Amino acid sequence: MIKISNLTMVFKQGGGSDSGITALDRIDLEIPTGQCVAIVGPSGSGKSTLLGLIAGLDQATSGSIIIDDTIITKMNEDDLARFRRDRIGLIFQFFHLLPTLTALENVLVPLELKRERNATETASALLKEVGLLGREDHYPSQLSGGEMQRVAIARAAITRPALLLADEPTGNLDTENGQRIIDLLLGLNRSQKSTLILVTHDLTLASHADRIISLKDGKVVKDEMKL
Ligand SMILES: Nc1ncnc2c1ncn2[C@@H]1O[C@H](COP(=O)(O)OP(=O)(O)OP(=O)(O)O)[C@@H](O)[C@H]1O
Ligand SMILES: [Mg+2]
Repeated sequence: MIKISNLTMVFKQGGGSDSGITALDRIDLEIPTGQCVAIVGPSGSGKSTLLGLIAGLDQATSGSIIIDDTIITKMNEDDLARFRRDRIGLIFQFFHLLPTLTALENVLVPLELKRERNATETASALLKEVGLLGREDHYPSQLSGGEMQRVAIARAAITRPALLLADEPTGNLDTENGQRIIDLLLGLNRSQKSTLILVTHDLTLASHADRIISLKDGKVVKDEMKL
């Protein structure tokens, strides 16, 4: 369960006396474990800012985020980094694969610090699950956009994170590949029983979620559960 209370994020402008940009304005949200949530809204409405705060990548101006029993808005950098590594899988629009590593090596990156046994087998199995059997030894430059995103998803899923966060994961893909990525994320959400929070511009993709939260000017303006 994620509990967000009175969450505000103000980006200060160059030190002056002006009040800065309010990217999130006193957001309250509760997201039960296992839910699949789509966050939609116009450009600049605060979607990425919200996701970044839930991921602990940035520090809120005020308010709190509690994930299960952990108040992440009160954690120090080291604890936050550990929390992220153990509990959160992140997927971005531009994939962020390491170009000098193969597909398999990219998927293994999050396990590097954990010294898990059978890591290679686990990574191979995940690549197979995302439809990339036989591509283990390809470098990102030898893969299509949809394939790169599938590697990025396998990498995010390899630690079986309780929380999967995806920011415009289909933003660089055509409709068909976008649909495949969403199906894959929803499949992981179900098979790994993880909570999935997905930022998207695409209302068709958003309609596959259990719930659609609309942001505008840093506020929740609509919060709909699918029937
Ligand atoms: N690091 C930053 N410094 C200053 N302002 C920022 C910063 N990051 C975001 N903002 C501002 O905060 C607001 C919300 O930005 P955010 O990136 O969350 O929007 P978004 O909903 O993800 O938009 P998009 O759909 O274009 O990705 C915008 O006005 C943006 O300019
Ligand atoms: Mg964004």
